[in-house]
Amino acid sequence: MIVCHCQSISSHDIHAAIDWMRAADPDTLITPGKVYRALGKAADCGGCLPLFLDTMRRNDNLEVPMNLRGWRGGATQESKACKATRKSSTTSIGRSGAS
Ligand code: FES
Repeated sequence: MIVCHCQSISSHDIHAAIDWMRAADPDTLITPGKVYRALGKAADCGGCLPLFLDTMRRNDNLEVPMNLRGWRGGATQESKACKATRKSSTTSIGRSGAS
């Protein structure tokens, strides 16, 4: 079934792109934009987006990887701990004598 008429993308193309991306990187987040890019195309009018998303949601490989669930774009738990150490307590940049 053709999902995107502007770019002639079928539901089979969408599922194949999702399966390929998941096989290539098990931790990747798969978005409609990434599916378009994987197919070498770009959205035009955007009228297909609701059907495009419905088609994507029917693919079992679309599931968000467990380690990325709840992630809000900030630091991960491992990287939250500051590993930097202070090298010198006498460092003062641009503050000497200025008021
Ligand atoms: S129908 Fe898909 S971008 Fe127009």
